[in-house]
Amino acid sequence: MDHFAYRDRTLFCEDVAIPELAEKYGTPLYVYSEAALVGNLQEIQTAFAAADPIIAYSVKSNANLSICKLMAAHGSGFDVTSGGELFRALTAGSKGSKIVFAGVGKSDAEMRHGLENGVFLFNVESEAELHALGAVAQAMGVKAPVALRVNPDLPPKTHAKTDTSVKGVKFGLDIETVVDVAKSVVGHPGLAVVGVHMHLGSPILKADPYEQGAAKAVQLVKAFRAQGHDIRYLNMGGGFGISYRKQEALPAAAFAEVILPAVKETGCKLVLEPGRFVVGNAGILVSRVVFTKETGGKRYVIQDAAMNDLIRPTLYDSFHRVWPVNPKADVPTWPEDCEAAIPNTVAQDVVGPVCESGDFLAKGRNLPALARGDLLATFSAGAYGMAMASNYNSRCRAAEVLVTGRTHRLIRRRETFADITACEADCLR
Ligand code: LLP
Repeated sequence: MDHFAYRDRTLFCEDVAIPELAEKYGTPLYVYSEAALVGNLQEIQTAFAAADPIIAYSVKSNANLSICKLMAAHGSGFDVTSGGELFRALTAGSKGSKIVFAGVGKSDAEMRHGLENGVFLFNVESEAELHALGAVAQAMGVKAPVALRVNPDLPPKTHAKTDTSVKGVKFGLDIETVVDVAKSVVGHPGLAVVGVHMHLGSPILKADPYEQGAAKAVQLVKAFRAQGHDIRYLNMGGGFGISYRKQEALPAAAFAEVILPAVKETGCKLVLEPGRFVVGNAGILVSRVVFTKETGGKRYVIQDAAMNDLIRPTLYDSFHRVWPVNPKADVPTWPEDCEAAIPNTVAQDVVGPVCESGDFLAKGRNLPALARGDLLATFSAGAYGMAMASNYNSRCRAAEVLVTGRTHRLIRRRETFADITACEADCLR
């Protein structure tokens, strides 16, 4: 969060004061730092430079077109998981040759769309998908470039809802049978098996799962080659964790240290699909306190952002630091314990206006006394924040702003009531 810092007790994004943005664009408001976005991407590019990899920004983490364009402008490719994300990557100016198409349930139309646009790799997750893709490609008179996504069956490493490499999840082909699956499509007229893919889960705060996964991938590359497949890509997916609480995340170099030797051993082109690492700490959600209240012996701060804006706390019990935009004492941006940095804090639940008891951003958090109108910042909200936002309770989705130095640009306007009903037919007139 280097590009979000307190100056004279006011939170800034780069050189812009957050209250100025809240005043101009309203709240709730997502604010992103261009320097942070580019800096995080470059950290990965630098750490893995020895392999000259294809870094495919994972569109699902934050799909905003301006952010996708920024990624493309800085040399990133794209990891897409639906026709809609493919549309966004292409609209952002990417060529198919830099797009990898993932996803456990691609439709025939999506496969065709990907093939027409020359995506360089389809991550394939089941035998049924493999044959469907082969048939679609054959009908088009082309060969689909495929990476077989394998579930490497590793011990749990992150939240159960986002761990994708333990036995029994819906993702990937079983490591015990993937070699047989590969054998069955040697010489298939519509398929070129050219890669091995694995995505371990997200977020991952240790390097060992990548070391273990990469070791299994190397064996698979060898086995597929022995069958006659021309394996050229090793795709290690995304999942690099970020610091949500303190400085708990690893630098990209720590992941490179365990992944690069495996890549070298195979001679493959490395593909990575980072999302959260790039955008997570490049964005905050700014909200305004509506009311405070005490009930059942608890203190509540009711502010205008809700689970429809940021669902991570509700869905995964995720921790996001929440702190006043204008604290009444000096605070470091990354305090060891921000709750201890200001005297007289008291435990409060930070909740939103949505009609669900599960609508909260933080629970039992030690915060200073807050009043109606105060601004709050919810940190580390750039990834899977706006991307998972909804219109629940018919709330308009938030606006998004991109800050570059002293300038700021609206990259998504706040929705209106008319937007909310725009797709509905008025059939009872
Ligand atoms: N590649 C594949 C195949 C994936 O499934 C994902 C994320 C990524 C790459 C990007 O992972 P990242 O680098 O962003 O960790 N909504 C959850 C996270 C779901 C992740 C889904 N897949 C959350 O808010 O924590």
